[in-house]
Amino acid sequence: MRLLVKTFHGVEDVLAEELLQLGAKNVVPQKRAVAFEGDKELLYRANLHLRTGLRILQPILSFRAKDDKELYAKISQHDWSKHFTISNTFAIDSVVFGEIFKHSKYVALKAKDAIVDQFRKRTGKRPSIDVESPDISINIHVSADKFTISLDSSGESLHRRGYRDGRHKAPLNEVLAAAMLKIAKWKPEIPLFDPMCGSGTILMEAAMFAKNIPPAWHRKRFSFMSWPDFDKELWDRIRDEAEKNFTSPRVTIIGADAAMLSVDITKQASLEYRLNREIKVSKALIENQEPPAKIGMIITNPPYGERLQKDNIIDFYKLIGTVLKHRFTGWDVWVISANLKALKHIELKPSEKHTLYNGPLETRFVKFKLYEGSMKIRTPRRSREM
Ligand SMILES: C[S@@+](CC[C@H](N)C(=O)[O-])C[C@H]1O[C@@H](n2cnc3c(N)ncnc32)[C@H](O)[C@@H]1O
Repeated sequence: MRLLVKTFHGVEDVLAEELLQLGAKNVVPQKRAVAFEGDKELLYRANLHLRTGLRILQPILSFRAKDDKELYAKISQHDWSKHFTISNTFAIDSVVFGEIFKHSKYVALKAKDAIVDQFRKRTGKRPSIDVESPDISINIHVSADKFTISLDSSGESLHRRGYRDGRHKAPLNEVLAAAMLKIAKWKPEIPLFDPMCGSGTILMEAAMFAKNIPPAWHRKRFSFMSWPDFDKELWDRIRDEAEKNFTSPRVTIIGADAAMLSVDITKQASLEYRLNREIKVSKALIENQEPPAKIGMIITNPPYGERLQKDNIIDFYKLIGTVLKHRFTGWDVWVISANLKALKHIELKPSEKHTLYNGPLETRFVKFKLYEGSMKIRTPRRSREM
């Protein structure tokens, strides 16, 4: 069957690579999604193992409709009892592009009416809506008059690994952090350091990756578990196989942050997820930080100057540049920031640049290779006056 994984803009190729490694066929990157061919087993595996996907959709119906009457009629023609019963709750998510249908909520409402009416006509009863935690999640994508209706096999977005406790004001999205590790080609044998680790998202994703722990390992529920064809035995086998592949490599994964709260949040998360042997974190300012290893990789997400206020964000980025140049010779440094102006003031020449999105926020993820006698972008111009 044809399946579709949603992701962030800029992450499509990394996600396609992950799907190929899982054995997916006909993998085709699209805009903010990757399509692939797979069976039920691959659908379960992908939900458990994909680090850079947000949700996995199974298209069940596509048609064209020019107005709400036609939309209602086309949805009514489909047999919804194949997918759920009146005792299941459901919810509909919709996105619309184009001029014909302008309001996604209206499209969802019309589709809901058509589904509910079909059940009511057949059984005299109707399934209930539950927008918080539905058994069945239906996804509607509209582009002009073209509708694609899918079942969302994941339910809650896959970026919710479960370790986020909500106390940090500016966390990176977990899927984005996982994508950054893959783009940077980080491997467990490379010492990893995040000197502004916040709630430790990069460190947590790295430690789970190093130990081969699937990102959704701690998650109890996926939408496919409410589908009539849910195969519990197959699911248990996939989980057992995953558990057999857990490893305990020696890794150096180190974080620091100026705020004690960030250090506490990271420690707590790593303790709860039994990653406290791999992740070490302490309170320190980047300006006082010495490299935790002779060489390694920094992947970090400094304040952008919006959610986390800094008096002078430009000066702060200059300071980051100075610290990197003087103390981290030999290291590969990756910085992600939505403050493109400030990023230039690191005053090192990037050897790679990627545009990624942290939720709705456009960011750049840039690499600086810190050779001996590092390269500056701008050499100070000296004027000769004599
Ligand atoms: C954008 S947040 C990092 C978020 C993190 N990636 C996460 O997923 O939670 C930036 C962090 O930099 C820290 N910070 C600000 N100034 C710092 C400094 N001078 N030295 C070290 N950390 C600093 C802040 O306390 C904050 O936690």
